Amino acid sequence: MKKKLSAHDLQKKKENKEIVVWVTAYDYPTAQCAEKAGMDMLLVGDSLGMCVYGYEGTMPVTMDQCIVHSDAVRRGAPNTFIIGDMPFLSYQISQEHAVFNAGRFFKEAKVDAIKLEGGRRVYSQIKAIVDAGMLVMGHIGLTPQSSGQLGGFIAQGRTAETAIDLLEDAKAVQRAGAFALLVEAVPPEVCGKIRDTLAIPVYSIGAGWMADGQLMICADLLGLFQAFTPKFVKRYAKMAEVMTRAFEEYIQETKGRKFPAEEHTYNMLPGELEKFIGNS
Ligand code: KIV
Repeated sequence: MKKKLSAHDLQKKKENKEIVVWVTAYDYPTAQCAEKAGMDMLLVGDSLGMCVYGYEGTMPVTMDQCIVHSDAVRRGAPNTFIIGDMPFLSYQISQEHAVFNAGRFFKEAKVDAIKLEGGRRVYSQIKAIVDAGMLVMGHIGLTPQSSGQLGGFIAQGRTAETAIDLLEDAKAVQRAGAFALLVEAVPPEVCGKIRDTLAIPVYSIGAGWMADGQLMICADLLGLFQAFTPKFVKRYAKMAEVMTRAFEEYIQETKGRKFPAEEHTYNMLPGELEKFIGNS
């Protein structure tokens, strides 16, 4: 059986320069496949709002939705380090609110850590959750919950001034006690500088190869999410095409009376068919 990684193992991997690979998952079967494939970690991202519910962004996602999906992922991947993603307005209001909602992930979905977006401006929330005994991952760069303020889903830290700003945010996340940091959609050199500056693991999604590990959105990687494809996505499968073809074939065979065939039906018990026909 696969051994579940701990935050300590992740720290060791950074020190040994071993790359960590993780992906988002929102449901039981995907979590099962990811664990079977040997994924190091899983994120139940609030990207589920777009990938599962068809929302335009992540803002409408609720705590209850995140808990339900995290719980399903935990059942599918009992031996994988799972991170629950705190949705918009679950941690911004106050430290108490943030601690309460973070705690729900651990109590109701048995996650190993939670992730929240922001640098210096969420310092006190990260510290409060860590002080309550929970593992927190930070998330800076392109932070989808504040994409309106950032000018949309666009790369961050492309000027020296904004890159220095990101470095300050990264340091604040570490100072607040986070065990790791995710950096999204920034140039590789900026992510590399953050990785080399921080003692904690620094992971990339769309922030290039100078990181302690890589995250991808499962629906992007599998070719399931079709609304748009960010530059940093590599598609490893064309699942939307595979599914559409299977549905087309099912429709054709059923309308053509080829399905269900003999092998897909149940027979009556021996002698029962004659009695049934005789009595009806
Ligand atoms: O919700 C999510 O999947 C995320 C990624 C975009 C990093 O937070």
